[in-house]
Amino acid sequence: MAEPGFPDGFLWGVATSAFQIEGASEEDGRGESIWDRFAATPLKIADATDGRVACDHYHRWREDIEWMKWLGVGAYRFSIAWPRVIPTGRGAVNAKGLDFYDGLVDGLLEAGIQPFATLYHWDLPQVLQDEGGWAARPTVDAFVDYADIVAARLGDRVRHWTTHNEPWCIAALGHEHGEQAPGHRDPAESLRVAHHVLLSHGRAVPVLRRHSPRSEVGIVLILSPISPASPGDADREAARRADGVLNRWYLDPVFRARYPEDAVADRVRRGHLESHELPFVRPGDLEAIAAPLDFLGVNYYSRTVVRAGPGGEPVAVKMAPRRDLTDMGWEVYPQGLHDILMRVRRDYHPRRIHITENGAAFRDKPDARGRIADTRRVDYLRDHLAAARQAIADGVPLAGYFAWSLLDNFEWAHGHAKRFGLIRVDPATQERTPKDSAHWYRQVAAAGAVDDLVQPPQMRRIP
Ligand code: FCB
Repeated sequence: MAEPGFPDGFLWGVATSAFQIEGASEEDGRGESIWDRFAATPLKIADATDGRVACDHYHRWREDIEWMKWLGVGAYRFSIAWPRVIPTGRGAVNAKGLDFYDGLVDGLLEAGIQPFATLYHWDLPQVLQDEGGWAARPTVDAFVDYADIVAARLGDRVRHWTTHNEPWCIAALGHEHGEQAPGHRDPAESLRVAHHVLLSHGRAVPVLRRHSPRSEVGIVLILSPISPASPGDADREAARRADGVLNRWYLDPVFRARYPEDAVADRVRRGHLESHELPFVRPGDLEAIAAPLDFLGVNYYSRTVVRAGPGGEPVAVKMAPRRDLTDMGWEVYPQGLHDILMRVRRDYHPRRIHITENGAAFRDKPDARGRIADTRRVDYLRDHLAAARQAIADGVPLAGYFAWSLLDNFEWAHGHAKRFGLIRVDPATQERTPKDSAHWYRQVAAAGAVDDLVQPPQMRRIP
């Protein structure tokens, strides 16, 4: 049997998002976002840091492109900050904001790196939040106008667009569990939010295609295979419910123009919906949401194991020993990437898939000589790439892989304490230092292959 490999043209990339790296939150006319507001609220961010400086990428983007060139990646996934482009969410465009992304896109193309632009990675303009945020239907129109403005400017050069990053996080973490901006705890609102986010995606797709006819358009979902903690009926039923909440609530509308009936029934039973008639769905919405896509972006970090809690509700449990957990407490489970890719292919048949995020936080630090031997991150990436390669061999149309993340950055409610970067960023000096994982990934990108011969090399001098 032939060795499974990565196909020619497979894209090796790295990913970031605007709020997590840019900083310069009050410069050049940028408006306030819900994450500025959330981070300024006491006790919301674990280490009490914020995004005012982050990786100072707004000023250092040229250097960051140099690092990507050094890594040899063929693609860069970044997001555009809506409040930089339209500070009040709708209406007047901030020319300097748009210029910033224009320059970034040109810089990437000059470097031979394909820009993968995400329109929304969680930084809603605060003005729109004050008017109801994603729970308010007019935010959908504001998003489509924003997409129009960005695509009109960048659509001639950006060949890969994604509308939203992880609608589940926006709806669930932001509006049901309160862990992320805007910090609401209202399950009924979170369902409305999810619908409006999905609708704004579907309505933006034709707008992106109009301005950018030769581009590929997709959406990025966080997906996780759900396993029951035991083979018993109650735990299996809990796993079904969790799958409905996390995975199918998003996959089904996007690929099948409907919400999953069993998951709707679960929400009715829990009192989050009054009936099976979803009050926020209007005629034509689901057809719009299911606009045909060129690719699905899959973000994968870990599997989810659940047991049945009170009332049969799923409760996440950790089955893995401590040594198998990352600094986020997430189980290292590469098999789950293969499982979820196979499942998505079997049930939803996307034309193409990109793994738009995959990576791990560990407490790495420089040794006396300045080397950052992040062996566990190398192992994590290698094992997940092996799972991805197996999925390709098993027929998954996988076209690219983006390591999360290029840089250590602002990890949302965890602040700067959780570090996912291939490249370390010294918080005091902003100095960038490639970790062993960066050296390793550089070899992978150059070889277009992952094998046991590719070992973390000795530290070398870089630009
Ligand atoms: C994902 C987010 C990304 C980053 C990683 C660790 O859910 O899209 O911004 O925070 O998790």
